[in-house]
Order: sequence, then structure tokens, then C-alpha cells
Amino acid sequence: MTAKLIDGIAIGKELRAEIKNGVSELEESSCVPGLAVILVGEDPASQTYVKNKQKSSVEVGMKSELIRLPATVTEQELLDHVQQLNNDDSIHGILVQLPLPKHINEDLVIQAINPNKDVDGFHPQNVGKMMIGQETFLPCTPHGIMEMLKRTGVEIAGKHAVIIGRSNIVGKPMGQLLLQKDATVTYCHSRTKDLPSFTKQADILIVAIGRAKFVTDEHIKEGAVVIDVGMNRDENGKLCGDVDFEKAEKVASAITPVPGGVGPMTITMLLKNTLQSAESACGKAKNNLQ
Ligand code: GUN
Repeated sequence: MTAKLIDGIAIGKELRAEIKNGVSELEESSCVPGLAVILVGEDPASQTYVKNKQKSSVEVGMKSELIRLPATVTEQELLDHVQQLNNDDSIHGILVQLPLPKHINEDLVIQAINPNKDVDGFHPQNVGKMMIGQETFLPCTPHGIMEMLKRTGVEIAGKHAVIIGRSNIVGKPMGQLLLQKDATVTYCHSRTKDLPSFTKQADILIVAIGRAKFVTDEHIKEGAVVIDVGMNRDENGKLCGDVDFEKAEKVASAITPVPGGVGPMTITMLLKNTLQSAESACGKAKNNLQ
């Protein structure tokens, strides 16, 4: 069997066209969705992510604001910037790129963001709402994966979804979203004993561990859907995921590539959340976020 490719670039493009239409509709009533990104320090990966987020937001017609701060910025200065953006009516989404330098308390910064502008879905209030199934901003990577599964026609109810990784950004919310769609969910992590005994049971396998090509055909059940959240460099410096694609595609029924899988969807969902926030703020809400 050779797996069907789940194309995040194509699905992302389709969604961004829908978002662009939504932005145009809002602009007819003089409301331009605004996304502000705060980047602290010079981390190369963060710089690339932020550049892509900005470029994509401009492409769909949004206003994009980048605030670059040195790695030496104090926690208070950063909090002041967040506060300023909270008070700025032209900004509907605020994203503080993580990780932050060690002298800054990330939790404190996330909690300082107005929950109604928290387009990352990281604020504890929004995490809580997600947990109990209330409408809120969903974290972009798991949200993007759900959208990808939906648009690929992957059935979720009654399926066994196994997640490797338990981060607050991906693993934990991923399990919640799949549970809400009636999957049976198993979480695996670095302390899990006999990992393949769990992953081999997965109808849907989500891999978010940050280790290049760690998951092989030996972890995957014949016919499983495999979603690779990893973004690593292999021994030749080439981008690769957490899944060994060549081995996995022989047993999976469908699989996301890296690059071109989850990554483009993450950015797309950030735009979707920003549009949703602007719709709420400008009184055109299709759902009640406020
Ligand atoms: N760093 C890595 N992924 C993310 C993300 O989704 N949002 C933010 N703010 N920082 C990140």
C-alpha cells in the first residue's frame, strides 16, 4: 500500500481563499482585521515562523504589525507592549512568539493578553473553554489538524486516536479536540513504556515529539492515518518530520508530508482565528466569542 498524501498546502490554500473572502466582507463595513506579532530576540526558527505569519496575514488582506524586541527586554516592558495592543482597537489578534527568554515568565505574558484577542488560544480562560467544549479560539496546530482530517474525509467517531507528545500547544489540546469528535484517545510521551504497543493500535496517529524520523513502519498499524507535527533537520540538513516518511507511507492509508503538511495549516488557522476575532469586535460575529 502507498499512503494517500494529505496536502496541507492545498487544503491551506482553499481555506485561505475562504478567509480572504471573509476579510473582504468585513472591509466593506470598514473593519480591517489586525494581527500583531511580538517577537523577542533573534531565534532563527522563530524569525522564520513570524515572517511566514506576517506574509500570510497580508496576503489575505489583514493589517499586520510586528513588534521586535531585544532578548534583553524586561518582563515589564513586554507586558506594557501587550497592554498597549490590548487597548488598540485596530488590533484583533495578539500573538507573542514562543519561546521567550528565560528571564521572562511565559505564563504571565500569556495571561496578560486579552482573551478576546488571544488568537493562539493559549490563555487559561480559552484553554478552559476548549476543555468544556465552549466556543473559543482553538490552538492553531491542533485546530489545523482537525480541519485537515475533516477536509480529507477521515472519520473520527469511534476511532482510536493515539497522540505522541503532551505539550500545552499541541499534544494536550489535540487529544481534547479528537475526544470532542468522539474518538477514543490515548496519550503517549517520553516516559511511555513500549511505545509501539500503543501506537500500533492507532487508527489515527498524531506525532509531536520533536525527534527526526523517530516513528517508523514498526509503530504504525496497516491503514492508519498518520499526522506528523515535527519540524526537524535530518543528517543532511534537510527539513523532515518526526515520522520516517518513506517507511511510514508503505503501511499508512494517509499521511502528511514535512514540509507541506501541518505547517501551512497552523498559519492558516491563526488567520481564521484573527478573522473570527475581528468579526466579533466589528459586530459581524457568526458565533459568539465575546
Ligand atoms: N512557537 C511555536 N509554535 C508557536 C505557536 O503556535 N504560537 C506561538 N505564539 N509561539 C509558538
